[in-house]
Amino acid sequence: MKIGVIGVGNVGARLARFWSQAGHDVMVSGSRDESKLKGVAEDAGAEMGSVGEAAGFGDVVLLAIPWQAAADTLAETGAMAGKVVVDATNNVRSDASPFAAIASHLPDARVVKAFNTVFAAMYDALAASDVRPDMVFCGDDADAKAAVAELIRDTRFEPVDAGGAEQAPAIEHLARLNINIAYAQERGPFVYRFLGSTEL
Ligand SMILES: NC(=O)c1ccc[n+]([C@@H]2O[C@H](COP(=O)([O-])OP(=O)(O)OC[C@H]3O[C@@H](n4cnc5c(N)ncnc54)[C@H](OP(=O)(O)O)[C@@H]3O)[C@@H](O)[C@H]2O)c1
Repeated sequence: MKIGVIGVGNVGARLARFWSQAGHDVMVSGSRDESKLKGVAEDAGAEMGSVGEAAGFGDVVLLAIPWQAAADTLAETGAMAGKVVVDATNNVRSDASPFAAIASHLPDARVVKAFNTVFAAMYDALAASDVRPDMVFCGDDADAKAAVAELIRDTRFEPVDAGGAEQAPAIEHLARLNINIAYAQERGPFVYRFLGSTEL
């Protein structure tokens, strides 16, 4: 796949590296620091570009930016009609749904909520582990979800289809619960897994 990554912090830099290692063509963008962006691109074996260039490059475009920066960022991406847009953002300050706002900005894109319920700090540990934790995701477009499921597997998580776009607020609340458990309850970052009775 051709993947545009917007935002190269904890989430974007790691996903760019994993996806590039998995054989995808990646372009990173969205840092305000040119030398940081260059370093991430070199580390990942990815191209670098502007937000608009990454949005144009990717058949899949990852939004890994702070929620507060979404409106300005989407003004630079354009409509991304037909593209698979992966929304990894969380809003930890209010109940407003990032997914709902992003999807309404991009009515012709195929937006999938994913990667927001797992801690970026866990990706590296998982790469050296046989454990395959779960990751919930949702969206309305079946082909877009199949593409994102493959990208989830590339990071060594098992994709768990939570349903259509109407499930995005629930997934966003799960992320907030996980963040609360990790930090307010001081458990630290973790992964999660759903086990049916036949798996016990
Ligand atoms: N960290 C996690 O474990 C985790 C897990 C799941 C989901 N998320 C969500 O994923 C998104 C990215 O998280 P992150 O931890 O990767 O964030 P981060 O480390 O702070 O990186 C954010 C990236 O977005 C860029 N950016 C663009 N416009 C910005 C602006 N106006 N203000 C601040 N940064 C801006 C930053 O640019 P610079 O390079 O110039 O700083 C940086 O490259 C967030 O919505 C977060 O809630 C995070």
